[in-house]
Amino acid sequence: MRLVEHWREEQNARMYDGFARRFPMYRLTSTDLVRCAVLQPDSEVLDLACGTGVTTEAILAELGPTGHVTAVDASAAMLQIAAERVQDPRVTWLEAPAEHVATAVNAGFSHVVCNSAIWQMQVPEVAAAISALLAPNGRFACSVGTNRQPDGSPAPPPRKPSLHDLMRAYAVIDHDFISQPSSRARRLMDDDGIRAQLALGGLNVVRTEYLEYAFDPDQTYAWSQVPIFTAHFSGLSYEQRMAALDKAWAKLDPHAQPPSRWAILVAIQGTDSGASQIPGGVLEPREHHDGKRLLD
Ligand SMILES: C[S@@+](CC[C@H](N)C(=O)[O-])C[C@H]1O[C@@H](n2cnc3c(N)ncnc32)[C@H](O)[C@@H]1O
Repeated sequence: MRLVEHWREEQNARMYDGFARRFPMYRLTSTDLVRCAVLQPDSEVLDLACGTGVTTEAILAELGPTGHVTAVDASAAMLQIAAERVQDPRVTWLEAPAEHVATAVNAGFSHVVCNSAIWQMQVPEVAAAISALLAPNGRFACSVGTNRQPDGSPAPPPRKPSLHDLMRAYAVIDHDFISQPSSRARRLMDDDGIRAQLALGGLNVVRTEYLEYAFDPDQTYAWSQVPIFTAHFSGLSYEQRMAALDKAWAKLDPHAQPPSRWAILVAIQGTDSGASQIPGGVLEPREHHDGKRLLD
């Protein structure tokens, strides 16, 4: 099953929303992402992969009465919860895959943001769509997992197995799970891989901020209970995955776990010669199907 199909399941949407409201992870990354996007009170924002509305709320907190958010997601189940939770006349909810969003909305956005989702998409196609939708001098900001520390240096190798490593061990031992690690897929999904793919679609990353969030064992356990986040243990039922999770949890050394590491990429159309024209923040170059309107 494609990943996005899991997002379309109602039970998964409910459990994701329960997690996102109870634990700070998605609120924190959304708030930091919106800060890096540097919104203005009257910004016209496209919230790509809005989920159940956590990022949308962080955007709304920065907008004045004349600002507006078009919040798009490929999952009707996620959008349904978002529209129930976030009742604000400044939001338009729209069901569409990000790859086809340019056919679903009108161009002219001052900002496009995408929290915790870009690596799940066909990035060059999505970047081309964003490029077409941004107003001149508009900017795109997205968050992506990274193996870099806040100063940009590579993180040291972990000292002890992660909860996920331990789960995989029990999936192998108890269920003959065959893991298929793909270094190519990993390279495409980290910040370097996403940056390169954005460029293919005409978006030039002009600033990167690396962030760390403290490891929280309870949050990590609860996150792993949301069905989609263990769906890659294909062949194991949800109950089997949760039994492996419990065994892993009993073995985890919570004091030897690294923080959660994220990169926020800020990009503009074309070359970085336009970076200095963007209002509201100094940007530094880094070295080294059609949509379906759901609710208004
Ligand atoms: C981890 S959630 C993030 C939701 C929200 N931005 C937040 O921070 O809470 C990922 C979201 O990406 C959406 N998504 C995944 N692939 C997508 C695609 N190709 N087009 C549109 N949405 C997609 C999923 O439906 C899901 O709602």
